Amino acid sequence: MEREGIIIALAKGRIMKDCINLLAKSGLVTKAINERTRKLIFQIGKYTILSCKPADVPKYVELGTADCGIVGSDCISESQCDVYEPIELNFGKCKMVIAAKKNKKIEFNPGTELTVATKFPNITRKFFLQNKMVANIIYLNGSVELAPLVGLSDVIVDITETGETIKKNNLKIIKKITDITAKFIVNKNSYRIKEKIIKEFSNRLKK
Ligand code: PRP
Repeated sequence: MEREGIIIALAKGRIMKDCINLLAKSGLVTKAINERTRKLIFQIGKYTILSCKPADVPKYVELGTADCGIVGSDCISESQCDVYEPIELNFGKCKMVIAAKKNKKIEFNPGTELTVATKFPNITRKFFLQNKMVANIIYLNGSVELAPLVGLSDVIVDITETGETIKKNNLKIIKKITDITAKFIVNKNSYRIKEKIIKEFSNRLKK
C-alpha cells in the first residue's frame, strides 16, 4: 500500500518564485512559503515541501530523502544524479554558455587548451571532451564572470539569463553549450511505489 504523502524538494533562489506560483496555480495553498523565509520545511496537506540549495535538489531526490523535486536542468546535469525527469516546466529558461573577455581572441578548435572558471565542472569537462578540447578547470562558487577579468581564467562556463552580467562585465558569449529549463524530477523508487500520489501531483503541475 502507498504511504500517505510525498516529499518535494524545491530549488530556492532563481526559480523559487516560479515554483511557488506553479504550486499556487495548481491549487496548493502556499502562503507560508515565500522567497524570504528562513524556514526550510513546509507542510501543505499531504505534501511536505523542502527548500533546498538548487545544486542539492537532485541529490535529495536520487537518495530518496525527497520523492520528487523541481530544479533547473543545469543542476540536474551537473549533479550526474540518476533520477527520472518526466516534466519540462515552462520557467527557469536560460542558457549555459562559454564566455570570454570581449577583446580576447579565443581559438575554438580540436586540441585547444583553455583555463575555465566555472561552478559547473562536470558539464564543462563533458563539453570540452565532446569537442576534443582540453579544459583546465578552476572551480568557483559564484561571480565566475570575475575570473577572466582578473586573469584567473581564459573563459568561463556559466548560465546566462538576461545577459546583463555578461554585458556589464565586458564579456562576450563564444558558444552556447545548452538551453536550460526547470524540470520536475522523481526518485526512481518513489515513482514505482508512490505512483498514484506522484502522478496526482505531476498532473497538477501540467494543468
Ligand atoms: C547567475 C550566473 C550569472 C548570472 C547570470 O549567478 O552564474 O552570474 O546569474 O544572469 P544574467 O544573465 O541574468 O545576468 P547568480 O545570480 O546565481 O549568482 P552567483 O554568480 O553568485 O552564482
